[in-house]
Amino acid sequence: MTILVTGGAGYIGSQTSRLLTSLGREIVVLDSLERGNANSVFGAPLVIGDIADSALVTDLCLKYQVTSVIHFAAYKSAGESMSQPEMYWRNNVQGTVNLIEGMLAANVNHIVFSSSAAVYGNPQSSPISEASAISPANVYAETKATMERVIRWYGETHGLRWTSLRYFNAAGASSDGVLGENWDITTNLIPLVMKAALNVSGPLQVLGNDYATKDGTGIRDYVHVEDLADAHVKALDYLQSGGPNLTVNLGTGVGTSVLEILSATEKVLGHAVPHEFAPRRLGDPAAVYADATLAKRTLGWSAQKSLQQIIDSAFHWHLNQLS
Ligand code: WQD
Repeated sequence: MTILVTGGAGYIGSQTSRLLTSLGREIVVLDSLERGNANSVFGAPLVIGDIADSALVTDLCLKYQVTSVIHFAAYKSAGESMSQPEMYWRNNVQGTVNLIEGMLAANVNHIVFSSSAAVYGNPQSSPISEASAISPANVYAETKATMERVIRWYGETHGLRWTSLRYFNAAGASSDGVLGENWDITTNLIPLVMKAALNVSGPLQVLGNDYATKDGTGIRDYVHVEDLADAHVKALDYLQSGGPNLTVNLGTGVGTSVLEILSATEKVLGHAVPHEFAPRRLGDPAAVYADATLAKRTLGWSAQKSLQQIIDSAFHWHLNQLS
C-alpha cells in the first residue's frame, strides 16, 4: 500500500508527503531535485531521478510495492513556459506519458494528478466550475490541460483510474513553520509581498489597479497548501474506495484582491507593506476564483484555513528563512 509521490520534494509535494507519513501511510518520493529541496522530505525514502525514466518508475513500483501515484512533478512557471516551451512539453507532457507507462508496467493504476486552475485561462466570469471552458493562456497551462487529457485517455485505453485536482492559487506555509515556498524560484504574489514586507526587495509592484473589481486590483482564490495536501489524501482514499474518475477544483470559493492581501499582511507586520502601482501584467485576468462545491460533494473536501492563516504562515516562514 505504498504511495509513489513524484515531485515530493517540491512546495505542495513535500507538504502532502509529510501529511501522508504523519497519517502512517507508506510513501516513496521520486524527485529530480532540479527544483525540489531534499531537506523538505521527512521520514520517507527519497529517490533522486526523473519521471521520464519509465524503467526506474517500474523498478520503484515493484521494489516498494506501490499501489498509487500522486503526480506533482512538473515545471510551473507561466512566463518561463513561453520563453522555453520545449522544456515544458518534454518535462511535463512526455514525462507524464513515461511515468504512466512505467507505473502500468508494474500494474499500478491509480493516479492523483496535480493539475491547475490555469487550464481555464482568462475566464469570462467567476466563480469557475469544472464545466467551464478549458482555454489555456500559456504553454504551462496547455501542458497541464494536455496532461489531464493524456491521463483521461490512459483511463480509456488501459483502465487507469484517476483524479485531476485543479488548484487555484496555492499559498501559505506549514503551520509549524517547517515547510514553505522558495521565494527564489516563484513569481507568485504572496512570496513577493513577503519579500517587500521584509525589505528583501523593493516595493511590491501592484500589477494593475484599474480592473473592474472591488478595489481595482486583481482577484484570486488563495488556498492554503495544507488544505491542498488534505485534498490529495482524500483523493487517494476516494480512488481506493472505487470512486469514478474525477476532475475537481481546489479553491476556497472566495476571491481576494491584491490590496486585501497587502492589508492582511500589514496586520501581521504592524505597518504598511511598501508597494507601488504598476501597469497590468499581460494576460492577467481580473478575477479568478473557484466554485468548489464538487470537491465537497465528491471528496468531502473544503478549505479550512483562513486568509489570515495563509498570510501568518507565509510571513513567519519567510521571516525564519532570513535568520
Ligand atoms: C496573483 C495576483 C497578479 C505579482 C498563478 C500561477 C500559478 C498557478 C496559479 C499553479 C494577480 C498580482 C502578482 C506581483 C501583483 N498555480 N500580482 N504583483 O497570476 O493567478 O497565476 O495561477 O499552477 O501559481 O500561474 O498568480 O501569484 O502570479 O498573481 O500584483 O508582483 O497578484 O496580477 O492578480 P496568478 P500570481
